[in-house]
Amino acid sequence: KQICVLVSGSGSNLQRIIDATISGEIKNAEVNLVIADRDCYALKRAANHEIRTLLIPRGKGFSAKLSEAVSTDTDLVVLAGFLSILNNEFCEKFKGKIINIHPALLPKFGGKGMWGNHVHEAVLKAGEKKSGATVHYVTSGIDEGEIILQKSFDITSNDSVENISAKVHEIEHEIFPKAIDQILNNTGKIAFITDL
Ligand code: GRF
Repeated sequence: KQICVLVSGSGSNLQRIIDATISGEIKNAEVNLVIADRDCYALKRAANHEIRTLLIPRGKGFSAKLSEAVSTDTDLVVLAGFLSILNNEFCEKFKGKIINIHPALLPKFGGKGMWGNHVHEAVLKAGEKKSGATVHYVTSGIDEGEIILQKSFDITSNDSVENISAKVHEIEHEIFPKAIDQILNNTGKIAFITDL
């Protein structure tokens, strides 16, 4: 099975996914293309594994170029810290085959502006008792697609944006490969929610 990963940042989730395809945690699959919308460390990680990379900067024709670059044979398009919005046409073309990881417990704390530490700031400000990460299908509505896998942890009074971010990353690295294996290999229940 062929996985295409879209990235914009450091790519620690990309690294986990690549490692999981190699170790067999994600079975019968390989990352065969990594696309970035900007120069970022994730591209270097892909290159280290001799995975084909493409840099498609945002701007005129972005969605069309992206759509052209992702082969229709692709089994799963994985957004791993990808900061551009996919247009309706792209979402329709790969309907049911695009997933994203979000650094909070959707359906709360999703949508425009809810990325990076902004999410954790909003969670803390709202006095939430829990946060976590969510793997979900991508539709043209931002962070609105069906939830695939979610895991949470309790927020304590000592928690700061920085350590919430670290805990969320840890959970992401655990649930993302799991969700990808489930989707590609039909192992276990697809949509479920679990607690840490
Ligand atoms: C993750 O926290 C993810 O939830 C968000 O962007 C971050 C990407 O981190 N969408 P990395 O580049 O995988 O380290």
